[in-house]
Amino acid sequence: MKKVILIVIGIFVVIQFFTIDKTNPTSDPQQDFIAITNPPVEIGSMIKSSCYDCHSYHTKYPWYSNVAPVSWLLKSHVNDGRNHLNFSIWPDYKEAKKEHKVNECIEVINSGEMPMKGYVMLHSEAELSDAQRNQLVGWLESIKDSL
Ligand code: HEC
Repeated sequence: MKKVILIVIGIFVVIQFFTIDKTNPTSDPQQDFIAITNPPVEIGSMIKSSCYDCHSYHTKYPWYSNVAPVSWLLKSHVNDGRNHLNFSIWPDYKEAKKEHKVNECIEVINSGEMPMKGYVMLHSEAELSDAQRNQLVGWLESIKDSL
């Protein structure tokens, strides 16, 4: 039993050497979704606090992002999130893609899929009430014709 515990601790110590890259790629502030679409302040801050950690180049890494294997999970969410939707490179998307992304946002906000549940448990500021979801979806609907 003692041996097993020592091995587990040993593995835990060794994996700590495999750190994640936490440098955010540089991004042009003028390419930013919020800068471009210019939403009301409360909408902008909802998007920032609920989505930007995973869907932009403005990720804020919490202290536990220093602890493997949690760090690996977190980094894979960030990579995966940015691949699906990156608010920091908004003008790179063609018009049809922008519309598709906005529609997807509406879907995942309505369904409660986003922001991810595990994330909200650790980031209470990211939580969206039903009223906020409605407000956000209403605003997203309103920009669809001007993308
Ligand atoms: C903790 C990280 C995280 C946060 C916070 C987050 N997302 Fe995501 N998002 C992901 C990941 C990972 C994926 C890709 C895997 C998946 O579809 O579950 C994704 C996928 C998506 C997709 C694509 C869905 C599809 O069907 O391909 C959209 C749209 C999206 N997120 C919108 C949002 C919006 C809007 C917010 C804020 C309200 C948000 N996300 C917050 C991590 C996150």
